[in-house]
Parts: sequence; C-alpha cells; structure tokens
Amino acid sequence: SLSYRAIFLVALISAASGKTKDVDSRKFPDDFLFGAATASYQIEGAWNEDGKGENIWDRLTHRDPSPIADNSTGDVAADSYHNIDRDVEMMRELGLDAYRTSLSWSRILPTGFADHINEAGVNYYNRLFDEMLKYNIQPVITLCHWDLPQPLQDLGGLANPLFPEWFEDYSRVAYEAFGDRVKFWVTFNEPTQICLLGYGDTSMAPELGAGGIGEYMCAKNLLLAHAKAYHLYDSEYRSTQAGQVGLAIHITYNQPLTDSEEDRIASELYNQATIGIYSDPIFAAEPGWPKELKQKIAEKSAAQGFPRSRLPELTDEEAKLIHGSSDYYGINHYTTLKVASAVNVSGRRVPSLMDDIDAEAIRNGTGENWMQAASYWLFLHPESMSKVFEMLQERYKDQVYYIMESGWSTAGGLVDDDRVTYYRTVLNSMLDAMEAGARVKGYMAWSLMDNFEWKRGYTEKFGFYEVDLEDPARTRTPRKSAFVYKHIIKTRIIDP
Ligand code: NOJ
Repeated sequence: SLSYRAIFLVALISAASGKTKDVDSRKFPDDFLFGAATASYQIEGAWNEDGKGENIWDRLTHRDPSPIADNSTGDVAADSYHNIDRDVEMMRELGLDAYRTSLSWSRILPTGFADHINEAGVNYYNRLFDEMLKYNIQPVITLCHWDLPQPLQDLGGLANPLFPEWFEDYSRVAYEAFGDRVKFWVTFNEPTQICLLGYGDTSMAPELGAGGIGEYMCAKNLLLAHAKAYHLYDSEYRSTQAGQVGLAIHITYNQPLTDSEEDRIASELYNQATIGIYSDPIFAAEPGWPKELKQKIAEKSAAQGFPRSRLPELTDEEAKLIHGSSDYYGINHYTTLKVASAVNVSGRRVPSLMDDIDAEAIRNGTGENWMQAASYWLFLHPESMSKVFEMLQERYKDQVYYIMESGWSTAGGLVDDDRVTYYRTVLNSMLDAMEAGARVKGYMAWSLMDNFEWKRGYTEKFGFYEVDLEDPARTRTPRKSAFVYKHIIKTRIIDP
C-alpha cells in the first residue's frame, strides 16, 4: 500500500542521512500562527496620559530609592502609545500572522472598576487593532499582564476574594469594546509569576512578601477570576464573537539535580507548585488542586500548628467552575533548571511555597554546557521544548497548545547570533513535539522589540528590534534575528 511504501521510504532516507529529524526538511503547516509578543507596561509609556490611571508598576518604579536595576521606569518605555504605525510596520516587515500584546487595565478603567471607561484608552487599542487587521495580523490579547490598577491593589488586589468580580467586569468591557476584532484572549499572563513573585515573594510588584499565604490566596482568586471571564465569554459572547479564551502559563523544563529519590520528589513537587497549581484545576482529568502538593502543604501547615491548610480549599462548586475553563493551553517557555531537595532550607517561621515543598530551584546550569543569555535565569537546553510537551501531554492529554512566549536576552547589539541559535533550536525541538503528536498551533516570540524587563529595567534586551532609548523618537532597528525569523515565517522552514 501507499502508506507502507511511504514509511519504507522515510525509513530509508533517515537511515541514509543517519538521523531521524532533519532541521531543514520539516515544514510548519501553512495555518501555523507565527507571532511576536509584547505587553502594555513594558512598551507603551504614556503612563499618565489621556486619563490613564496609576497601576502597581507605576507605583513601584516611582519609588525612591528605585527598586529597578538601572533606576528606570516604564514612563516612556518604547513609547508604543505614540508609535502605532511603526509598530505595525515592524509586524509587516517580519510577516507576522499574529501579534500578542496586553491591554493596560488602568488605561481603559483608570480606577480598575468598570464604572468609568476611559475612551481615549479604548481608542488607542482601536487604532492599533484596526491598523493590524488591515494587514491581516491577528491580535492575541492579554487582559492582565501584571500591571494591575493601583486602586485595586489598595484593596488587596488578587488576595481579595472580590477580585474575580472586578476581573469579570473588566473582561466584559474588553469583550464589548474589542471582541468584534479580537478573537484570541489570554486572561492572565504567568499566574505563577504574579502570585509567587508578587504576593509570596517581593521580586515583582506588589512586593507583598507574604510567603506561604499570599501566593495561595492569589492562586485561588486568580483561577476563579480566569474562570469567570471564561464563562462570561462562553455564555454571552462566544455565539456572536466566535473567539477563544485561555491563559498563558510559565513553564520551565525542570530536571532533578541528581537521581536521588529526594531530588526526584522535589522536582515533581516543583512541577506541581509552579505548573500544576494553575494547570491541574483547569486541564487535569480531576478538578481541584494537584493532589501531592495539596497534601504536602496541609502536612506542613499542621506541623506548624495550623489545623487547616494555608492553601485555601476549592469548594466543589468552585472546582467545577474552574475545571475545563480554557479553549487552549498557553505556554510561556524559556528555560531549563534543576531542582534539589532542600529540607527546611530557610528556617522561616511561616514558610514560602518553596519551603512548603522542600525544594530549591537551581538556575545556574549546574555542570551543564547550556548556552546562557543575559538574564541570570535563562539557559538553552536543546531539547527543553519537546521535554515540556512530553510532560504536558502525559499530564493533560492532548490539549491544543500555543506558545505564547519564548525568547532570548542579550546585553545589546544588532548581531545577535545567540538569539538566532536559540530560536532555531527551540523551534526545532517544537517540531519534534509536533511530530510526536502534540497539537501545537502557534508560536509567539518574545519580543517584537526591546522593552522594560521589570526589575531588570532596560539592562536585558529581548527584541527582534533594538529600541534606541537615547532617541526621543525611540527609533527601532531590526537585529539579525529579525531577518532570520522573517525567513522562517515566510518559508515555514527552519533554514540553518
Ligand atoms: C515573561 C513575561 O511574561 C514577560 O513580561 C517578560 O518580559 C519575559 N518573560 C522575559 O523575562
């Protein structure tokens, strides 16, 4: 039969070439969505223009002394608020199928509440989306990429059980204003970073630092907020707007540091604490928190004299609301790390999530030859992408996946060979996963242009386009990687 002959031929060719996967022989499907990503606070600037309200990153970056590496702010950033034409021109230069960015919540709702809509803010996005759609560039829009309105934070932000209602109101405003053109919604970007780093820890705004408590309250309210926004779309907008709603979860490829049982357990719990805590309740067969994680936190709580777990319960009703509340699985994948068992590492009275699971993430590429980026946490493991999909496929069974972010930082310069190596390697590994059956439908690179890298300020550059921060016009210049990515998008082949 034909298929038998095809298999025979493939076997023959791969035997002859000595390898089964050939970088340049495999093509991405024509309808595969290639894009690039940014986020409102990181590029827009115009922090107090045209009625925009203050958000938690405005508040943090305006603090004296500055908590930002280079004392910078996002007040102007890449000034995308005043550069719609050039931004869309760059998308066209690259030939993007899609562009992912986020709405600045406080530009649209200055207090965070839906009682007053700032029309000037809505118009900025109207003009951006209209311009993109002229050229058939699909908007992929995140509702909350970290820049929470400050007045909502003053009421506790994501730790407040009212948060899901505030978020549902905001999502309604967004669907009403843009849903005729935006068909691809991302509710939250990187829940783990929002909750663990902003509420448990102090490395991101709002720097709550309530370890072992804050990240759990945030996790529950974030999941409920996501689920409410999803169900709102499902019941009131899907039939007329016909789009999809999901979220973007930050996924590292985590390996146990050694073969020891302790490290293996720590590594599994680390997966559950950073990935499973947001993924299981939505995508696993059983609703609710990941089992081992839940049990571990309950045990730790009991040992400290708290008869009830610091991880809040999900009632059956809540668990049901969250379960299945996503049309796709969105992945932000950058890096690889090792996980070691670290029993009682910090000795703090109220432990953090990491203490709760007795795990320590080691981000220095221990003993491996991994290429390193300008960011201390960013390493290239050649197979990390396919390993991530192996893990996801096993745990969540055949979801529809989009890579919502993936990228590489440098200290600057237009000849960014390491970034080129990164994209080629990661895309190749993604093709391996697709060949093995993962339904990956799109890839969005971080980032279209250099931008404000949170606490690292402008010291780490992720852009296909360099942005000249000395120049008031914020001139954008393509790097070598821009031409490579353009070629990949056009040919659908990773041409080495
Ligand atoms: C993920 C975040 O979503 C984005 O805001 C950040 O700039 C990149 N990672 C690079 O760190």
